[in-house]
Amino acid sequence: MVATKPRTTAKAPPEHPSGDPRFALIDRTLKRLRFQQDALIEVLHTAQEAFGFLDEDLLIYVARQLKLPLSWVYGVATFYHFFSLKPQGEHNCIVCMGTACYVKRAAEIVSALQAHYGIEPGKTTPDGKLSLLSARCLGSCGLAPVIVLDGQVLGQETPESTLNAVQARLSGGNGASAAAAAPKSLVSMEEVDE
Ligand code: FES
Repeated sequence: MVATKPRTTAKAPPEHPSGDPRFALIDRTLKRLRFQQDALIEVLHTAQEAFGFLDEDLLIYVARQLKLPLSWVYGVATFYHFFSLKPQGEHNCIVCMGTACYVKRAAEIVSALQAHYGIEPGKTTPDGKLSLLSARCLGSCGLAPVIVLDGQVLGQETPESTLNAVQARLSGGNGASAAAAAPKSLVSMEEVDE
């Protein structure tokens, strides 16, 4: 009788304690790539697209999921110029351009921000105040169109509500009034704790 090697199956990780839906995006990429350690760069790409930059929490999360030393993950993230470990601007606004958001006119939100602040996605205003980013899907399609403003996920946005929220941030407010106008605010990244 020939002993068969037990098959290893990719195990879904538990939901991130923050409840931030963007961690589910990273988890989906991890699962699709079967938690292979050589998928590190692609996983980091997903993480950066969803969060705008790779902070320490994210690097720790990815390192744990891939069972890699944090020093290795940190080394890769700092080696490639397309990864950013710090937010580019003082504030950052990620507009989801995934299918669900796109059909609900996310492109108009990007256009409004571009016209108002004179920057394209991926760029930062010359005064360093605002970075505009886009992502493929932020994991909250039911709230489309979705933006993430300084780590706060806002849903059912319009060009006007987004401009108001960004303006409130830039003028030193916390965007509370704009967030109230925007129907749903899911979670603040300030609450994210490992
Ligand atoms: S397509 Fe925008 S959250 Fe999924």
